Amino acid sequence: MSDGSVPEPDNLALSRKEDFKAFAESPRRSRPDLLTRKQLKTLGMDARADYDRRRRKWHANIGPVKTPQLRELHEDLWDIVDSNEQDGDKAKGAVAVDAFPGLGKTTSVLAFARDFHQREIAESGPFTSRGHERIPVCRVGLTGNTGMKDLNRAMLEFFGHPGTGRGTTAQFGRRVLDCVLSCEVRLLVLDDLHFLKWGQRNGIEVSNHLKWIANEFPVTLLMVGVELTEKGLFSEGANGRDTALAQTGRRTTRLGLRPFTIESETGRREWRQMLLALEQRVVLTDKHPGMIADDLSDYLFARSTGHIGSLMTLINRGCQRAIRTGTERLDQELMDKVKNDEASEAARLELQAALEKRQLTSRPQSRGRRAA
Ligand SMILES: Nc1ncnc2c1ncn2[C@@H]1O[C@H](COP(=O)(O)OP(=O)(O)O)[C@@H](O)[C@H]1O
Ligand SMILES: [Mg+2]
Repeated sequence: MSDGSVPEPDNLALSRKEDFKAFAESPRRSRPDLLTRKQLKTLGMDARADYDRRRRKWHANIGPVKTPQLRELHEDLWDIVDSNEQDGDKAKGAVAVDAFPGLGKTTSVLAFARDFHQREIAESGPFTSRGHERIPVCRVGLTGNTGMKDLNRAMLEFFGHPGTGRGTTAQFGRRVLDCVLSCEVRLLVLDDLHFLKWGQRNGIEVSNHLKWIANEFPVTLLMVGVELTEKGLFSEGANGRDTALAQTGRRTTRLGLRPFTIESETGRREWRQMLLALEQRVVLTDKHPGMIADDLSDYLFARSTGHIGSLMTLINRGCQRAIRTGTERLDQELMDKVKNDEASEAARLELQAALEKRQLTSRPQSRGRRAA
């Protein structure tokens, strides 16, 4: 930020370039010191309030933990983004990160976008050769039932372009292209793409629009969403009509994010690593080695079913309660009182519905899908 103050990452919606830049360039939060019971008792009222406030913030924003899922996704993204640096007008490969809610899509993709932003600025400087601000990443999160025009407008708003009031979809689109070219955007992230109006006829329109972006914009298009495959992003056009869809599909690499599983030894090891990482980060006076990774391992798996979103909600809320009540440790008794949030519940319901729907479908599952 211009006044040099440290931006508060939690206040950023990341829907504008300034916000994204602040997010990408802000230093990582520093962990509050772990105090002993004795030290905690000797804190005066104000110091204690300040300490607890910092711990609240810290536990509410643990992460991102470098899980195997996140690492694998990042490796794949680097492969694709870097191989897209061909010269000229060769069409660039697009990416779709397609996974159920609460598996860490937004978190992992933002962490990648942050790294990418930093690398590009470090290598090429904050301004383009023509003196424009360099904006390596344009990131837009979709909401509700977004149409093509809304999508274009959202991208314009990211750049703070004044021309968001009037215009056709195509005019908005050309303005976006101008911004992308002058700011030398390299990565375009469209998060929650399932909120686009797809539908029968719109499916073609959406796919044409994405194809236009992929063809005209010199960027790696990174689409993020839920059930993009089912929405037809990769369809080959079963009856030969949807050639636009087929073209989008062929140039798009689909990447997933898997939940933690405990069927195999490798899976159990990954789960434990995750819990150990959390145990290290938690700042509770009476924590002990194994508090999470041993004593709560089964419990947390059962309640989260291996979904990182639910796990993080439980840990976050558990820590808040442990601090507030003075318990200063996590155990099953305390965790039993902690509710999983609506989002996690909704995600689980959505997950269930999706699974049931899939069971009901008469079509065979396409090959390679959800090969977790
Ligand atoms: N690698 C990670 N480390 C720590 N927390 C994570 C990580 N990935 C996801 N989370 C947490 O899980 C929750 C859901 O993640 P999110 O990225 O929003 O999932 P999605 O976009 O797939 O729905 C968030 O609250 C986030 O903080
Ligand atoms: Mg998300």
